[in-house]
Amino acid sequence: MNKKTVRDIDVRGKRVLVRVDFNVPLADGKVTDDTRIRAALPTIQYLIDQGAKVILMSHLGRPKGQVKPELSLKPVAEHLSQLLGKPVKMAPDCVGPEVEAMAAELQPGDVLLLENTRFHPEERKNDPAFAQQLAKLGDIYVNDAFGSAHRAHASTEGVAHYLPAVAGFLMEKELNFLGKALEAPERPFIAILGGAKISDKIGVIQNLLGKVDALLIGGGMANTFLQAQGYDMAESLVEEDSLDTAKQLLQEGEGKIVLPVDLVVADAFDANANRKVVPVDEVPAGWRALDIGPATIAHFTNRLSGAKTVVWNGPMGVFEFPAFAEGTFAIARALAELEDAVTIIGGGDSVAAVKQSGVADKITHISTGGGASLEFLEGKTLPGVAVLQDK
Ligand code: 3PG
Repeated sequence: MNKKTVRDIDVRGKRVLVRVDFNVPLADGKVTDDTRIRAALPTIQYLIDQGAKVILMSHLGRPKGQVKPELSLKPVAEHLSQLLGKPVKMAPDCVGPEVEAMAAELQPGDVLLLENTRFHPEERKNDPAFAQQLAKLGDIYVNDAFGSAHRAHASTEGVAHYLPAVAGFLMEKELNFLGKALEAPERPFIAILGGAKISDKIGVIQNLLGKVDALLIGGGMANTFLQAQGYDMAESLVEEDSLDTAKQLLQEGEGKIVLPVDLVVADAFDANANRKVVPVDEVPAGWRALDIGPATIAHFTNRLSGAKTVVWNGPMGVFEFPAFAEGTFAIARALAELEDAVTIIGGGDSVAAVKQSGVADKITHISTGGGASLEFLEGKTLPGVAVLQDK
């Protein structure tokens, strides 16, 4: 990564305004998955240890520019305080005189969390006056919110125009893993794509085809490719509008794109539906594909063997239904068993699947970015990264 990080600047005694991605799930006022909070700890702890005055900011959910008490970051402040083993002060807002006073009173090593930046409509508009108000709170800006780096918002992009701006350790780690995979992967380099729709991932497929040795495609998006090849997918989810694109991608990716050879089909979209395994050319009328079949698992696992770099985004089937989870879990296990390979997982659903399959600790890097990791894999420049100082 060619961006400066917190290591490259002197933060001692300075007010350091850190954009983190604390957009985490909450239930009954408690954080239910703290992965993103834990992922930001190395930067926060480093700043505390260096004697910086740490001011954290994040969005939470999509409150559409209004104050929504259920989207307050207060529960996150409490959770973070437990993880750090020290008090985390909670600001009533993210800008304004009261918050400025709280920031000014901080002592070296103190931590203050600002309230949800999206309570202000100016955040998503990347309003310069609002970005300047945020910038008033700090002497230095650190972006550690990889998960939000694809958003050009005031707290992720705008503010960086008014303060010295560098990356945090999580941002650095994400860009190093994903960047190396795209720019200089150890080969063979294999990508696995799944999820419901190809329309969301056309850019990713195009970009990856130019870089990978093989692209394995499963999940709902495989149906559209199979139909484009002439198979009758019956009631399976197929994007009719994307059939021509699928045909074109199959041509571009000849010799690289690997599709399912069999499927687990169901007679209804239901966790308790009747199921059976069929070859791709025998999907019965009235049935739909909800998972890849055992022959496909074997085929994909075989293609993965010997891989040195693997990037995976999107589940292989409807893994939320236990009867249709085996394909996704088997691919997670196959990745976990690869020796000497760098395995990278991006995207909310595949991350949840890997955690459920119990092999998360055997994956080299699990990205904290859903949309951000997809845009990165698409080859797009992330605005929250572009704006940081080069080394
Ligand atoms: C995410 O969860 O992907 C990020 O926090 C970005 O959230 P957003 O899609 O609401 O901008």
